[in-house]
Amino acid sequence: MSNVPLLEVTNVNKRFGGLKALQDVNLSLETGKLHAIIGPNGAGKTTLFNVVTGTIPVTSGRIKFLGTDMTNDKIHRISRRGLARTLQIKSVFANMTVRENLWIAAQSHHGVFSPFKSWKKCVRSVEMADIICEQIGLTSLADQTASNLSHGDIALLEMGLALATEPKLLLLDEPICGMGPAETEQTVIKIQEISKSTAIIIIEHDIEVVFKIADEITVMANGTVLAKGTPESIAANSDVRNAYLGDDDDD
Ligand SMILES: Nc1ncnc2c1ncn2[C@@H]1O[C@H](COP(=O)(O)OP(=O)(O)O)[C@@H](O)[C@H]1O
Ligand SMILES: [Mg+2]
Repeated sequence: MSNVPLLEVTNVNKRFGGLKALQDVNLSLETGKLHAIIGPNGAGKTTLFNVVTGTIPVTSGRIKFLGTDMTNDKIHRISRRGLARTLQIKSVFANMTVRENLWIAAQSHHGVFSPFKSWKKCVRSVEMADIICEQIGLTSLADQTASNLSHGDIALLEMGLALATEPKLLLLDEPICGMGPAETEQTVIKIQEISKSTAIIIIEHDIEVVFKIADEITVMANGTVLAKGTPESIAANSDVRNAYLGDDDDD
């Protein structure tokens, strides 16, 4: 079982009209590592997350998650198999508390929006909310409404909402985007902690952060995978330096 890849993407293509957003993408990611995906804007990183999560269908190719083919499956089926993501569009309920937000996320994962449906599952969701509050370090803010949280704490809550679905794999798309140094540090520490119990693939623009936390880096450019390897091998790769790291001076 341990040899089954976490995620296996085989010859995946995604076209938007004439635009080839993903071109023959092949990628096999092992379990037990913190994976990062980097690449210039428009490289196809978010599109890859979108096809993996079933948000949009592939044009061709196959996607396997922990050995099960789930190419073009429905979002909720993929989610139920244990795949969760955070979105750049914030999805917290601003007028609810941290704990209520987490409770609703856990509750909706159990498919019981009606409070009359299953008392046991409600209790489980309440417990889950508290466990996740602790995991993301927001226990002291559990009764604050989300609208009172800092940008960094909102980002932690976003991760919490994804964790409430008890995923086997969590996809994070630029989770520290727009954060200052202190919030970045807080979030990065949490990501590292969470990665000890839940597999993570992170798309991140901040190269310094990526080289610090990732066990393995995949570099994308123009809809293709340019290179994959340890931070050391990626830093030393001349193709990567030419295509990406070298022209990083104005952004
Ligand atoms: N829903 C869409 N419709 C049309 N074009 C899209 C759509 N999503 C992404 N694209 C295009 O696909 C390319 C890859 O985008 P994206 O995956 O968002 O890149 P990245 O996340 O690496 O910056 C870009 O040229 C983008 O404009
Ligand atoms: Mg993107």
